[in-house]
Amino acid sequence: MERLSSPAKLMIVSDLDYTMVDHHDPENISLLRFNALWESSYRHDSLLVFSTGRSPTLYKQLRKEKPMLTPDITIMSVGTEITYGNLMVPDGGWEEILNQKWDRNIVVEETSKFPELTLQSETEQRPHKVSFYVDKSKAQDVTKKLSELLTKQGLDVKIIYSGGMDLDILPQGAGKGQALAYLLKKFKAEGKLPTNTLVCGDSGNDAELFSIPDVYGVMVSNAQEELLLWHAENAKDNPKIIHAKERCASGIIQAIGHFGLGPNTSPRDETDLSGFEKGNLSPSGEVVRFYLLHEIWRRGEIENSENYVTSLEAVCQLPGIFIHPSGVEQSFRECISALKGNHGDQQGKQYRVWVDQVFPTKIGSDTWLVKFQKWEMHGEEQQSCLCSAVLVAKDANGSDGWTWLHLHQTWSSVAGAKDHLTWLL
Ligand code: GLC
Ligand code: MG
Repeated sequence: MERLSSPAKLMIVSDLDYTMVDHHDPENISLLRFNALWESSYRHDSLLVFSTGRSPTLYKQLRKEKPMLTPDITIMSVGTEITYGNLMVPDGGWEEILNQKWDRNIVVEETSKFPELTLQSETEQRPHKVSFYVDKSKAQDVTKKLSELLTKQGLDVKIIYSGGMDLDILPQGAGKGQALAYLLKKFKAEGKLPTNTLVCGDSGNDAELFSIPDVYGVMVSNAQEELLLWHAENAKDNPKIIHAKERCASGIIQAIGHFGLGPNTSPRDETDLSGFEKGNLSPSGEVVRFYLLHEIWRRGEIENSENYVTSLEAVCQLPGIFIHPSGVEQSFRECISALKGNHGDQQGKQYRVWVDQVFPTKIGSDTWLVKFQKWEMHGEEQQSCLCSAVLVAKDANGSDGWTWLHLHQTWSSVAGAKDHLTWLL
């Protein structure tokens, strides 16, 4: 990753379904806690890698449904597709490696002889992945027979059973673990091996992640039987792997704390958010807290008090300029007075705000330019805008808080600009 000029402080490699994303948590509390922690303390010097069984189609769908961050690297289709950055540029070198002893047509032909196997949807059939559903009781037997048959045909495949129902057939060199090993090798060659790597998972296709040497690992509390069984048989005595007490993304935060990998208090867990103008925040931390306050103000979760308004006035330097995504220019004073009238207007609604890809750059002795993406979720709908803010430290290192000098926001897409009247700040 060219973005970082030195080794990442922490690289998190996380599965998505039931690890980063909890489908049993309609409020997405643990995911939002993780997001706030990542953006305030890790984004600028660490790497976020999502490693999912989903194809690009289903991955993009999940991103539309859930308040997810943008990862630096996306590994999809059970470690058979690696892409980089926002634009998801594919790693061609990886695709080539996977062609060894792989012939998709033979796999399709041989598997058609098994009535126990039901083909998954077309989107999940990929160049280096053929996927089925199979009943739990038949999985072991089918795997064994298939593996013998395909070996006889000269192929070298890997068969993975996950979630008590999914059966994936991949080239032997593929899989989430191999994809991670490939990335680590690349980083090492560039002299940028991350200082710490933490892998996170819940099901069978994640097992390989935990067998990569030197990485920390967390099996979230809700991990599937097949992963726990794999761990009991293969990695029981490895002190670098824990079975978390907490579910999904909260289990990841727990592991960060357990292994001492860095800060592990999410800004969403701070009790005194309104004291946000004070103390020891990095510019990224200030951006996270500013928008978090905005969310709880509109959700009516903080008191409608003059204190808050005064504290907001104290951080917004007059005559600071605020540019609304619609292009309208306002003074901070006008903008604050608009906000005053909106206390609790999102009460009882599914309204959330989070920031993504927060990148601070120092542009003066006490001045920072912070670029980030701001997301808002109203029920099922998500909108984002690109922002840049100029923050000035009240004292030399920001320990006395920050002043917002300028805030410029632009809709990320034309669709986003369409009649989004509830968007205030
Ligand atoms: C995801 C994929 C599916 C795969 C499963 C387990 O659900 O969509 O194709 O079988 O992960 O790896
Ligand atoms: Mg999972």
